Amino acid sequence: MAETLFEELKRYVGFDARDEASLVALHAVAKPHFPRISRVFYDRILEHEGARKALEGGESQVGHLRGTLQVWMDQLLRGPWDEAYYELRCRIGRMHVRISLPQHYMFGAMNVLRQELTDIIDAAYQGQSEARHLARSSLGRILDLELAIMLHTYREDLLVQQARSERLSTFGQLVGSIGHELRNPLGVIETSLYILRSRAGATVDERTNKHLDRIGEQVGIANHIISDLLDMIRDRPLQRQPVWLDEVWQEALKAVTRPEGVLVTTEGLASLPTLQGDAGQLRQVFVNLLENAVQAVEETGGTVSLVGSLVEPGRVEVVLEDTGPGVSESIRRRLFEPLMTTKARGIGLGLPLVRRILERHGGTIAYAPREGAGARFVLHFPVAPAEEGPNASVPSAG
Ligand code: HEM
Repeated sequence: MAETLFEELKRYVGFDARDEASLVALHAVAKPHFPRISRVFYDRILEHEGARKALEGGESQVGHLRGTLQVWMDQLLRGPWDEAYYELRCRIGRMHVRISLPQHYMFGAMNVLRQELTDIIDAAYQGQSEARHLARSSLGRILDLELAIMLHTYREDLLVQQARSERLSTFGQLVGSIGHELRNPLGVIETSLYILRSRAGATVDERTNKHLDRIGEQVGIANHIISDLLDMIRDRPLQRQPVWLDEVWQEALKAVTRPEGVLVTTEGLASLPTLQGDAGQLRQVFVNLLENAVQAVEETGGTVSLVGSLVEPGRVEVVLEDTGPGVSESIRRRLFEPLMTTKARGIGLGLPLVRRILERHGGTIAYAPREGAGARFVLHFPVAPAEEGPNASVPSAG
């Protein structure tokens, strides 16, 4: 059977049965120290302003993490170091990736554990130099394995992102040329429609009129789709100016038709500071989100609510919720990817465009299910002017 990645890693660092036996022996000695070590570990993280930021949940999260670190140490020294162990460690690694924890913090953090456990070995194996030597090297090997797994999860994430950006770039080139090519025939249809209407004048019967309207409507939809596609790939430069989100939201409200039975509520926007941004593109963000939310509730009726607040001196948060069915778990992961849609109409560009515009403003968007049922989008905007991020330049075509 082919060697698994974990087996290969173990072979690489030279982790074998002797290490396993030595770690199990160390486990008995070290276990009483786990609560103290996990305190030292998180105190060290809290001392550093950058690392501390990752612990957003404050004291209660640190309390929980201290507990999980003790379980982690227990498994570290007790094994079994099998595929299930590897999978579990990958899951933990992915948690760090998900919270965008910079990987360089891992080395310092691992060193705290290395240091604490080495001190325990030195104290416990006084006068037994061979056992001490073996325990130290086994500890070194298992911690190297742990770091390797952590870095592997970061690499895994990088590869996914790379694949995504390659897909986007191919998609961008294709879409750019098709979009441009379609503009011409649509323009011709529009002109001919105009001429037909003016020729037919008042004499035209109702049915013909209805069909002319339909053609006009459908051309409008096709144009709208092409504009979204081209916006998505073109990276129109941002026209930065002071922007009042409240004003932008009011504009979006005017642009989106809402059937009866859909209630929209707004809170907190009026008191927010101005942002530096492109009002037109930010309006697009709100229009796309609002259209989705309205579509989610229009059949049964429901509420769309928008709440703005200043969560930190330099950061505005906007939460948009609707009482519709929400987004199923299988879709959530790919919600912001182009061409991901569950709707009969629309081709899945609304949310990717929203994310792109926000990223170019130095902002973020995330989806979280609403309590009860429904969708919840959380947007963050920096109040201070932000440089366009590295994501601002992909993909590009036409
Ligand atoms: C040797 C390094 C590290 C080890 C062994 C480790 C261990 C763990 C474990 C076992 C979990 C899972 C908790 C659970 O099951 O709920 C976890 C999650 C977490 N760790 Fe670490 N950690 C390390 C480094 C760090 C560093 C340096 C930070 C912060 C600067 C950090 C912040 C977090 C946070 C915030 C979570 C929760 C993530 C979430 O809830 O999705 N960790 N870590």
